[in-house]
Amino acid sequence: MERLVSGIKPTGGLTLGSYIGAIKQFVELHKNYETFVFVADMHAITTPQEKEKLRQNMKDIVAVYLACGLDPEKATLYIQSENPYHAQLSWILECHTYLGELNRMTQFKDKNQKQGDKNLSCGLYTYPVLMASDILLYDADVVPVGDDQKQHVELTRNIAERFNNRYGNTFKVPEPIIPKAGARIKDLQDPTKKMSKSDDDSRGCILLLDSEEVIRKKIMSAVTDSDNKIIFDEKNKPGISNLIMIYAALNNLKVEEVEEKFAGYNYGSFKSEVADAVINTLRPIQEKYKEIINSQLVEDVLDKGVEKVIKIAEAKCREVQEKVGLGR
Ligand code: TYM
Repeated sequence: MERLVSGIKPTGGLTLGSYIGAIKQFVELHKNYETFVFVADMHAITTPQEKEKLRQNMKDIVAVYLACGLDPEKATLYIQSENPYHAQLSWILECHTYLGELNRMTQFKDKNQKQGDKNLSCGLYTYPVLMASDILLYDADVVPVGDDQKQHVELTRNIAERFNNRYGNTFKVPEPIIPKAGARIKDLQDPTKKMSKSDDDSRGCILLLDSEEVIRKKIMSAVTDSDNKIIFDEKNKPGISNLIMIYAALNNLKVEEVEEKFAGYNYGSFKSEVADAVINTLRPIQEKYKEIINSQLVEDVLDKGVEKVIKIAEAKCREVQEKVGLGR
């Protein structure tokens, strides 16, 4: 069985973007792949985090994974930092990654531009290499991610190929899986940028645990144009195109099918249908989340998960260290 590896950073509440871009794919794919899904807490601390909040976010993510339908019998769930081999391999891979490659990472460039030279951590810069080690440690065949992480998976492939060329076949070269609909869900208030949990204007971002009223309000007040036609045109109608994409992704429809279905609707009535679709998707997830979050299940699943992944990662790390010549 082929392997799937992916993770999410616990830097804030999970968003509709991370659900559509990542979690929905994990749930659909995990029946057909040996699946490893983790909480990327080491990635979270590339920017300052409050300890208690970080821990709560981690627990929330695992409860949401389970509530969305990841079956812990089929998927291995774990916390990244509990397996020390991620950091161990990351150092070795950093020594096989070029500065030029990291300089080209658009996510870092964007953050750097936003924050200027105000004390960005080195971790934020080298983070794509840690991501490569998350993936290569487990010989992943596929990595389901949203569009913004595609470049990091491409870097992972380059690092793997370089290492294999130099030391002989060691790592599987993984393929990204990017969803056809919803690879980049946009902010509802500024549909030119990605919907993101770390954004200041929370009206533009739907959190998976938002109440029905809040979800409806956010969607009804999403920024659109004045054309009043439900047509997908990301350049000229980014707001309505984003809502079409959300509807398409949640109902497994093509964009054209959504356009056809809502031809003749005005924006108000279309938004109301999108709000219904989001609420109907999230309601059962929220109900299950409430049952799971305070149960022993989260702890049990994570204990079992880390035990399994450490064994796999240790063997891979030993092989790598042996090839590079580390230790005795
Ligand atoms: P993170 O935590 O920023 O996002 C988690 C996943 O959700 C996707 N995503 C989106 N997809 C569509 N539209 C959006 N608005 C949206 N927002 C988020 C992301 O593309 C991602 O797939 N570096 C990663 C976490 C990570 C990882 C890994 C992923 C660490 N190691 C190894 C895969 C494999 C990150 O920061 O994702």
